[in-house]
Amino acid sequence: MSRYKKLEEEMKACRKCHLRDTCLNVVPGEGNEKAEIMFIGEGPGEKEDKLGRPFVGAAGKFLDEMIGLIEMKREDVFIANIVKCRPPGNRDPLPEEAEACWPWLLEQIKTIKPKLIVTLGRHAMERFLPNQKISQMHGMALRREITGIGKQVFYALYHPAAALYQGSLRETLKTDFKKIPKVLKAIEKEKNIKKEVQMDADRFSEENKQEALF
Ligand code: URA
Repeated sequence: MSRYKKLEEEMKACRKCHLRDTCLNVVPGEGNEKAEIMFIGEGPGEKEDKLGRPFVGAAGKFLDEMIGLIEMKREDVFIANIVKCRPPGNRDPLPEEAEACWPWLLEQIKTIKPKLIVTLGRHAMERFLPNQKISQMHGMALRREITGIGKQVFYALYHPAAALYQGSLRETLKTDFKKIPKVLKAIEKEKNIKKEVQMDADRFSEENKQEALF
């Protein structure tokens, strides 16, 4: 059993908050366990709760469509939520519920090690980039140190459901989404530069060692 599958089993058995008493299924998340991109929404809705899968309702359909825009498939990325159990009546998760579920999300991130975390909506953004306005943050990539994870790049987007209900956000969300491949490339390029610098540093120390020998 993979490390991720084991984690998934643990999440399914979780009883850390009372949401498990009212939901039908735990929705841990799904996708590629080695994904470069991890999408994080707020919490399961009615359909997600019924099927035990994230983003399978109307918002999910729109998310799939946008993933297609960057020439990827749902199976290429990982999709998770801040809380894994549906809050009754689709209300926002309470701070203590998000807090109880936080260690699971941290473990998911540490296991999957995505290059980029894309937050969907202001609640998901708030967990990683607190006290910011989504109207200012959307479509911007930011690197932040997160306790328990280390340095991580985040990219905040409007929630697909918000874009479905507010037509004017639809185009904004699509425009932001299409920038994701560029953000990934920038992360990769920076890593390569760092690797080159490290290789130079290693070569120098090797030369220095030789100097010392002769
Ligand atoms: N909205 C979310 O935030 N997550 C889901 O899984 C579905 C809808």
